[in-house]
Amino acid sequence: MVSDSSIRYGFITRFFHWLMAIGFAWMFLTVVARFINEDAAFTKAVFAYHAQVGFTLLWLGVLRVIWAVLQRSNRPKSDLAANLGHACLYVLMIAVPLIALLRTIGSDRGFTYWGVWSILQPTGEKIEWMRTLGNTLHGNLGWLLFALIIGHIFFAIKHSLVPGDERVLSRIIGK
Ligand code: HEM
Ligand code: HEM
Repeated sequence: MVSDSSIRYGFITRFFHWLMAIGFAWMFLTVVARFINEDAAFTKAVFAYHAQVGFTLLWLGVLRVIWAVLQRSNRPKSDLAANLGHACLYVLMIAVPLIALLRTIGSDRGFTYWGVWSILQPTGEKIEWMRTLGNTLHGNLGWLLFALIIGHIFFAIKHSLVPGDERVLSRIIGK
């Protein structure tokens, strides 16, 4: 089934969830590599795709939030804590790359998507508040997002081990 139901998440939700999970795993690799050694050749090689994959997660995230709003009355029921947790994940999965994009606009660096699409071109004008916002918040909120994702995975595994709660994991796997 393409749409969600009260028993399980439908194909589109599962597609967004797992495709973006791969994207976030990549982002995690890039920032951990940078954290360990900013100058290593490996870090440079993977961080070269940080912004590219990050921007992909931004537009996928926008589509996913629109889909979640459309499906809100069809979805399996979760408790308040899970709903609040998911809401924080939705807010940060948009805010973190959006703030980075604003910093790129403010820095007047230009942005070429996958080396092909010139999405932003340098105009010769820097916008200071966008750079300050990005420098202050992008990395910090990014780490917060990863901390929430780790908590989210922990609770998903916990549910799968509690008898009677296994559906929580099954419904996003599609069983
Ligand atoms: C969901 C998507 C994203 C996540 C989770 C994310 C996460 C992070 C994190 C945690 C850091 C800090 C790394 C450190 O402390 O060394 C960082 C740095 C950085 N990110 Fe992202 N990022 C995302 C998207 C983007 C996008 C779309 C761009 C560019 C348009 C970008 C550009 C950068 C740059 C240039 C840095 C290094 C400077 C800094 O620490 O702020 N990121 N990112
Ligand atoms: C191994 C990795 C992951 C596992 C095992 C996992 C597990 C789950 C489970 C079991 C649910 C259903 C929860 C419920 O219905 O109450 C769910 C939903 C959700 N997960 Fe994950 N998750 C993973 C990675 C991620 C990542 C990286 C994100 C990124 C922010 C994320 C964001 C969400 C969101 C927002 C929902 C609500 C439904 C949706 O829009 O997809 N998950 N996840």
